[in-house]
Amino acid sequence: MNDFRYYNPTTIIFGKGTIAKLDELVKKKDKILLLYGSGSIKKNGVYDQVMEALGKRKVLEFGGIEPNPDYATLMKAVDIVQKKEVDFLLAVGGGSVIDGTKFISIASEYDGNPWHIITKGAAKDCKKAVPFGTVLTLPATGSEFNKGSVISRREKRVKFSFQSDLVFPKFSILDPENTYSLPIKQVRNGLVDAFVHIIEQYLTYPVDAIVQDRQAEALLLALIETAPAAMQTDPLSYDGRANYMWAASNALNTLIGSGVPQDWATHNIGHEITALYGLDHAETLAAVLPWLMWYKRDQKQAKLLQYGQRVFDIHEGTDSERVDRAIEATAQFFHSLGMPTALSAYKIDAEEAATIIGRRLAKREWKAGEHKDIGPEDAANILRLSR
Ligand code: NZQ
Ligand code: ZN
Repeated sequence: MNDFRYYNPTTIIFGKGTIAKLDELVKKKDKILLLYGSGSIKKNGVYDQVMEALGKRKVLEFGGIEPNPDYATLMKAVDIVQKKEVDFLLAVGGGSVIDGTKFISIASEYDGNPWHIITKGAAKDCKKAVPFGTVLTLPATGSEFNKGSVISRREKRVKFSFQSDLVFPKFSILDPENTYSLPIKQVRNGLVDAFVHIIEQYLTYPVDAIVQDRQAEALLLALIETAPAAMQTDPLSYDGRANYMWAASNALNTLIGSGVPQDWATHNIGHEITALYGLDHAETLAAVLPWLMWYKRDQKQAKLLQYGQRVFDIHEGTDSERVDRAIEATAQFFHSLGMPTALSAYKIDAEEAATIIGRRLAKREWKAGEHKDIGPEDAANILRLSR
């Protein structure tokens, strides 16, 4: 097992009716900026519950944070936080609203160029951030339980991430009933995103990290087991949504990634696809991961065999046959949710995507993978397979 430091100060409040706990979690005299997306919270009753719990506190609002939150939108909120001297931010939504709030939180207290927080590692120079909490409405990213944030800038057609201990949420409220209004496509996305988060931290090479491996496998199995109930709509299943929600949060609170090698090439390549073609985050992951597994099958063989055996019960055949079946089982799981695994499903020419993305990554001298041996040409080769 590799050495590690693990830190996670976020308080999780999980269960039915927990939005009411905001009254205990937020100071009475704080001036609050409530941040949300395109308005789903106003239709499903979440907004009303939040406002009731906040009672007489002074609340300003900032709506319109889009999926794949945009830098230009977020900078408008930074202006409000600074001019109105906001004390506390409350993100109510999915990964996009929470990631956007993380950026607003840190950028509002930063004197330099805020774009450098995302592009030049300036997050490490930041000394403070406006505190914030979250009410999660879409289990997927784990953003409610980690210190990462992914920001898009459409004007430049880019999508980048940053991390900082300053942007751990103070608390996150996870009420599975707040997911009931999700379009089923978003539930599918959330299950796939969480699955791929686990894979990025698990499917590398063995370092004898028994605890992390077994926990990762438990989370993969939990997602597979709960997926049918999570996807069920008539009637909705509370436990299906609860297990899906808790699995997704655990998938990227970074515990299973502590002390083990990590990959993240699928995510990096996926962000390029979203920046260029506008696909949902999880759609990009499913269009890359099986092909990356295929392309890196030799380097990942030991873990692919372990994954096949422990997650999909694949025991028979030669090593090569078992690896094939583990990759097929992954794709089949995605298909069972209605998630395609090729760029052609979106009428994207794989060859074109490979050329453009390969070129963009080469300019940045990009490298990823657990051995840092996936470069721009490899990314292009992987994308070429996704046809
Ligand atoms: O705009 P609103 O009204 O909020 O509607 C959203 C949006 O249209 C809707 N939605 C959310 N909760 C709902 C709901 N609709 C009905 N009922 C509800 N309860 O769902 C749509 C998608 O929301 P979004 O927040 O964009 O989805 P997601 O949670 O998948 O977040 C995606 C973003 O997170 C980043 C992605 O790159 C992407 O930008 N990620 C963040 C990570 C992190 N911070 O650790 C890691 C991930 O790998 C990922 O990269
Ligand atoms: Zn993801």
